[in-house]
Amino acid sequence: MTDPSNSHDMESEGGIFTPVGSRRTFFTWVSGAIAVFIGVALAVPLLGYVISPSFKRRKKFWKAVGRVEELPVGEPRSLDYVVTEKDGWMETKAVKAVWAIKQEDGAVTVFSPICTHLGCGFRWNPEDSQFQCPCHGSIYDTTGKVLGGPAPRPLDQLPSKVEEGQLLVLYKEFKSGLTEQVEL
Ligand code: FES
Repeated sequence: MTDPSNSHDMESEGGIFTPVGSRRTFFTWVSGAIAVFIGVALAVPLLGYVISPSFKRRKKFWKAVGRVEELPVGEPRSLDYVVTEKDGWMETKAVKAVWAIKQEDGAVTVFSPICTHLGCGFRWNPEDSQFQCPCHGSIYDTTGKVLGGPAPRPLDQLPSKVEEGQLLVLYKEFKSGLTEQVEL
């Protein structure tokens, strides 16, 4: 004998039953799961596309900073140039400077313009023939060696090369305050 009170449970709108609910409920769950799956499948690559530039290290390029023949021997020169930096989605133009010194044999040494103590910009003092940092008094000679003050390491030398008379520099920055060079 059929219990009339169960008739509503047994006859859902579609009139077809499963042990755990109506076929409509089952299809609702399946459609929901498919929608979530498609959403995640689309979102993951999109998210990667949006945020991945933030994690990429800035690309570095050789930059022409001046003609070697114009550099005096033994006298450091500050050479400026403009770079376009791409950091994530941000693209900015910045003026960078390096210190270049031509040796007797024509070889050129290029230094980062950043003091290795806490990152101030240092200057060349021609009277003392020294690089001097105004912040805490670090002093370097023309080879970058520390002569005085709190600088923990010599000046950071930058990769450089000469092509068709042009001095090319690969600009890099390093962490300040450390005894060894750690590139940023
Ligand atoms: S930052 Fe140059 S001496 Fe401190």
